[in-house]
Amino acid sequence: MSTVESRPLVGAGVNRVDGPRKVTGTAPYPMDFSVPGQAYGALVQSTVSAGRIIRMDTEEAERSPGVISVLTHENAPQVGTGPTTVLGEAPPAPLRNDRVMHHGQHIAFVVAETPEQAAAAARLVHAEYEAAEPLLDLQDPRAQHLVDPWKMDHSRGDVSAALEAADVIVRGTYFTADNTNNPLGLFATLAAWEEDTLTVHDTSQWPSMVRTTLAMVFGIPESSVRVLVPYVGGGFGAGLRAWPHVILTAMAARTTKRPVKLVLTRPQMFTSVGHRPSGVQWLSVGASRDGGLVALDHRSLSSLSMEDNDYEPFSHGTAFAYQCPNVITRDQQAKLNIAVPTSMRAPAEAQGSFALESALDELAYTLRMDPLELRIRNHTEVDPRNGLPWSGKALLECYEVGARRFGWADRSPEPRSMRDGNWLVGYGMASAMFPYFATPCMAEATVNRDGSAFVRSAATDIGTGTYTVMAQLSAEELGLPLDKVRFDLGDSDMPDSMMAGGSGLTGALGNAVHDACRRLVGLFADLARGDADSPLLGASPEDVEVSGGRVHLAGRPDRGESYADILARHGLAQLTATGSSRPPDPAEIGMSPAGAYGAKFVEVRVDADLGIVRVARVVSAIDGGRILNEKTARSQIIGGTVGGIGMALFEDTVTDPRTGRIANGTFGDYLVAVNADIPELDVIFVGEPDRGTPTGTKGVGEVGLVGIAPAIANAVYHATGKRIRDLPITIDNLL
Ligand code: MOS
Repeated sequence: MSTVESRPLVGAGVNRVDGPRKVTGTAPYPMDFSVPGQAYGALVQSTVSAGRIIRMDTEEAERSPGVISVLTHENAPQVGTGPTTVLGEAPPAPLRNDRVMHHGQHIAFVVAETPEQAAAAARLVHAEYEAAEPLLDLQDPRAQHLVDPWKMDHSRGDVSAALEAADVIVRGTYFTADNTNNPLGLFATLAAWEEDTLTVHDTSQWPSMVRTTLAMVFGIPESSVRVLVPYVGGGFGAGLRAWPHVILTAMAARTTKRPVKLVLTRPQMFTSVGHRPSGVQWLSVGASRDGGLVALDHRSLSSLSMEDNDYEPFSHGTAFAYQCPNVITRDQQAKLNIAVPTSMRAPAEAQGSFALESALDELAYTLRMDPLELRIRNHTEVDPRNGLPWSGKALLECYEVGARRFGWADRSPEPRSMRDGNWLVGYGMASAMFPYFATPCMAEATVNRDGSAFVRSAATDIGTGTYTVMAQLSAEELGLPLDKVRFDLGDSDMPDSMMAGGSGLTGALGNAVHDACRRLVGLFADLARGDADSPLLGASPEDVEVSGGRVHLAGRPDRGESYADILARHGLAQLTATGSSRPPDPAEIGMSPAGAYGAKFVEVRVDADLGIVRVARVVSAIDGGRILNEKTARSQIIGGTVGGIGMALFEDTVTDPRTGRIANGTFGDYLVAVNADIPELDVIFVGEPDRGTPTGTKGVGEVGLVGIAPAIANAVYHATGKRIRDLPITIDNLL
């Protein structure tokens, strides 16, 4: 690739630059780091879900071989709490009192010489509880509700009047289960203090937030904390917080004056690093005979823990998904004695679009209209909240290209009308969207005396390809071959980055990298333009471009000189520039920043006797704006689709209704989609670079999952005539 310089770098499906390190086992994941003299931590978790600890017996644990320390609420130092961020309040400090808020809450932390000794001693810590009756049921009337916690509820027009006047109304109640993020990489933290300086290796999607949290918690300057995350074994949102176990590990390292390493067990992953909250949604859709939407009333209640928060405005997307004059969206959260929920891939949108896209399918049958036709009929080219055109929306093209590729026209509209032997065949579709999201982001670019470049930012690559796409983008911007550019990330000492979340990192970081590289090229051009010995003497900045490692007149690679020559003549070892990006301001660009769009087409086969559902085919037509790397972007959509199939058919974190204990917190018991459940997944990218930002990307981390569950439920209806409004869809729903 790097030798063919005329071939555009950006967009090409180049292999991951970190691929060889990953497949040879040399890429260090958080649990792989060790430092001399380190001790090992183990968590002790509550076995009741509400009440008080009335006695902690740690004596036996303390006498156990190799044990260095046992921290409980009785001897732990009191520490502060972290910052409130765009994702909400920081979790409360661990071990601060005797209160138990959920089953699996960390109630003690054992430090020992070996991991086995720590784990063995953790089982010898005995707690006595005064248990209280837990609140565990989402619809328990005693639960406290947070109303519009994210101030995103929307209202326009007159929904009740419009529903009353509508020709047709479809009403439904939808339920989506708790799901657990389940990244393959077990979360790990290694914390080491030197005097008042703290270095932490942590599984995080957001190193600078972990730094800020630890600085605030321990009352030290941010400059005294360094968080390192060169590789992450998956996150799906679980790494968007500085979790209590991270704080506990750093606390234990401080009190024992030893570096301490903690690796969560798989069952602990179910209680310690978040999960997609369950929710109930009530949706009313009013339409005219010709299929025009006249009213949407979408309300949700989702689960929340007692003293934490979680961004899940389930119904928010309904406010701008379609053209409709009368819309109400209302979200509430119920505080329960459960482990904290958190963002899980396509937070809120995954659940909200299940209700909306299922209801639209039902409306299409009621109207005897093609479900695809109904979506096209209600398409909106402007953001209905403010009337501004979208900065990019190729949803109509998604419908057209996806439908053709899938063969949607071959569908016979009646339920149970398509059959292949004993299999009932169903075709279903859904629209998909993931809203635009970005926060300010920075990057730094350096060209060295030999003409090679470093570009860096405190971002993470959670397996999505950030290393690779940012190296491609940097190489293109700097006019260098890919093998002359190293993109570094995963260190909070680097310029501040946005989190790897909300499908926003590629855009925000890409725009910052673009800015840094432009500025850096500008520094070289300035040096050359003022230099009597340079062929670029007096050239105006707009006439200068870069290619082949040279700064030259536009379209004239011969009229210029190399980065290396410019540096050498000025006696410089390197030049560096910092760049930044901010989310586009709709007022400034005159457009509403658009997220990614997609159309999902699914064929299912349902065994007529046994109710077994098999997904036979999925076609995803995606508008992801400008695609920086066809291969990694495709992998994102494929991965998201697998997650969507899991959400639709398998994933269900089951909490025992009496004890609040998660009953299936292992990979043996919690079902995820496996290879045998996944058919060929067809992905097509359509659309144009987004007009709202310089790099034109939209982010494809989440849109792949959105719409898969309703498209499957709609296909199941088409196959069987059974409308399933509860996820996951299981055999007993279909018998
Ligand atoms: Mo994504 S759930 O915002 O990591």
